[in-house]
Amino acid sequence: MSARVVSLTGATGFIGSVLRERLVARGVEVRALARSRGGTAEDGTKWIKGTLEDEHALAELTRGADAVIHCAGKVRGRDARDFDAVNVQGSKRLMEAARLGGSCERFLLISSLAARHPTLSWYAASKFEGERQVRAVAGAIPVCIFRPTAVYGPGDRELRPVFEWLLRGWLVTLGQGDSLLSFLHVDDLVSAVMQWLDAPVVQSQTFELCDGQAQGYNWASLASIASDIRNAPVRQAVMPAAVLKGIARANLVLSRFTRRAPMLTPGKVNELMHPDWTCSNALISATLGWEPRILLRQALRNHLF
Ligand SMILES: NC(=O)c1ccc[n+]([C@@H]2O[C@H](COP(=O)([O-])OP(=O)(O)OC[C@H]3O[C@@H](n4cnc5c(N)ncnc54)[C@H](OP(=O)(O)O)[C@@H]3O)[C@@H](O)[C@H]2O)c1
Repeated sequence: MSARVVSLTGATGFIGSVLRERLVARGVEVRALARSRGGTAEDGTKWIKGTLEDEHALAELTRGADAVIHCAGKVRGRDARDFDAVNVQGSKRLMEAARLGGSCERFLLISSLAARHPTLSWYAASKFEGERQVRAVAGAIPVCIFRPTAVYGPGDRELRPVFEWLLRGWLVTLGQGDSLLSFLHVDDLVSAVMQWLDAPVVQSQTFELCDGQAQGYNWASLASIASDIRNAPVRQAVMPAAVLKGIARANLVLSRFTRRAPMLTPGKVNELMHPDWTCSNALISATLGWEPRILLRQALRNHLF
């Protein structure tokens, strides 16, 4: 498919801004929803000012678009309602607008690997339910769901400090230290989106995505990679689970006074402590021909974050 007009949400965020740049570079007309700006940018992006709660803005965003890429999402919140309002209700509203618009031939939802385990956290539950609701109201529009693992790259603020400390020779491991993690570079995720956009035919499918390190990473392998790159040892400090949970609970209490959504909540601790975040790219590779190019080792060595 050679999409002429693509509607994009989340284009002011970490992943969405890379997506927008890549779409613009391909000569696609990008309509991007933003809470903070409107008008036409120098690179041709048409910013539609509004939110996922605003049906008029969503109608304007999706009118005449061949494809919709939904990358907006709530990644931190103070309670389940915070997450549901955006990740469930907002996603559903966007799909309804796309369907009413009548031109959308394919819809991509950037969900999360966390949706695999909806009981872990408010975030995971909302991503899972968002997927379900989007599919339920899609009508004839094929819905593709990407479930990327932890994404990193330039512009990311969550993993960058961890990687910077790692390359300085420090790693704080969480709990018993035997969890299996996986990662994905933002450029690879964006390439997967482009391959979905280019595929002549798409079906409603759900894909998991990671950097292709089949057995994932544990704390020891992260330390070993960094140690190779530094040519010096990496010191590991263990953060006991009870301490992490205590901080997370305190964050939630504090957020009631500050009204700021914390990143580290009890649900996030459950996600961090989950024993297995490995996944397989087999289905997306077989379907879209996508293969990731950047292994974490390479990204750390070349400072691609
Ligand atoms: N980063 C990861 O490791 C990762 C991994 C797996 C899945 N994901 C998913 O990927 C998506 C993007 O993540 P990210 O890391 O790029 O997050 P991010 O940097 O926090 O960006 C979130 C984007 O969503 C927008 N947004 C939030 N609430 C909105 C609302 N009510 N109406 C309209 N726009 C709203 C934000 O707009 P403002 O700029 O106005 O706040 C921003 O553009 C999310 O759906 C997330 O669940 C991320």
